[in-house]
Amino acid sequence: MPVRRDLRFPLPSERACDWHALGPYVTHFFNALSLLFPAGERYFIDSVRYYRDRIEDPELKKQVLGFIGQEAMHTREHIEYNETLKAAGLPAAHLEKYVVRLLDFGRRNAPHSVQLAQTVALEHYTAMLAGMLLDDETRIASGVPIYAQLWTWHALEETEHKAVSFDVWNAVMRPGLKRYLIRAAAMLQITLMFWTIVFWFHTRLLIADRHRGGHVRGIWTLMRFLFGRRGVFPTIALDWLRFFKPSFHPWDHDNRSQLARIDSVVAAVEAAGGRDKPSAVRARMMARSQKSA
Ligand SMILES: [Fe+2]
Ligand SMILES: [Fe+2]
Repeated sequence: MPVRRDLRFPLPSERACDWHALGPYVTHFFNALSLLFPAGERYFIDSVRYYRDRIEDPELKKQVLGFIGQEAMHTREHIEYNETLKAAGLPAAHLEKYVVRLLDFGRRNAPHSVQLAQTVALEHYTAMLAGMLLDDETRIASGVPIYAQLWTWHALEETEHKAVSFDVWNAVMRPGLKRYLIRAAAMLQITLMFWTIVFWFHTRLLIADRHRGGHVRGIWTLMRFLFGRRGVFPTIALDWLRFFKPSFHPWDHDNRSQLARIDSVVAAVEAAGGRDKPSAVRARMMARSQKSA
C-alpha cells in the first residue's frame, strides 16, 4: 500500500552540478530527469483522479489515495530541487516551461483514456528506472548524501505504487484488443518523447555548465553509465519489452524486497534534518513571497 511520507530534502545548490560520484555528466542526466517531474507528476495525478469515481474496489480506491499523496510530495520536492538548479545558474526555469506547455497541450487535446494510458506508460518508466537505481547503489552514489537520499526515496515510492495507475487502467477500461492497442501505442509514443526530451534537456544543462572542463572523461563515463554492460539502457531493455505482453502486470517483476530499505532511508533523511526544516532555497522562496505579498 503506497504511504505518503512528508519528507524534505535540504539540497545544497553549490553541489547541484556535481553531486553524483560519477561527475557532472551523470549528475546532469539526473538533473534533466528532475526537470520533468513537477509538471509530469501533476499530469499523472490528474489523469488518475479523473477516473477515481469509477473505481469500485475499495482497496484500489485506497491505493489511488496513497498514489496521489506520494506523487504530490514528489512534485513538491522536485520543485525545490529545480529551484536549486536555478540557484546554481542553470536554465531550469526555461526548460521546465516546455514540459508544462507540452502537457497542457496533452490535457486539452488527448482523450482522458489516452492521458491515463500515457500515465501508465510513464509509470512503467519510473518503475524501471527506480528498480535499476535500487538494484545497484553505485548508480545513485553521491558525494552529497542528501541528493542520493532524495533519489532513493523517490525510487522506493515509485516501486511501492508502480501498479496503481495500471490497476486503475484495467478497472475502468473495457477489456479487449482496443485496450491493449492504446496501452502499447502510448508506450511507443512516450518512449520517443521521453528520451527526446531527456536528451535535449541533458544537452542544454551540459552546455550551460561547459566551463567545468573534463569533457572527454565526462562523455566516456556517461556512455558507460547509459550503454555499458550494467548501463541504464541494457538494464531496462527487457522490462520495457515485457510491457508489450498482453497479460503484462507491473508486479510480474516482483521486486518488493527492495522496499525493505525504506525505513532506514526515512530515518537517514530525518537525521539529516530532512523533515520540516526549511532549506536555504525554501527560505529564499519564502522571503521572496513575503516581499511580494
Ligand atoms: Fe513520483
Ligand atoms: Fe509514480
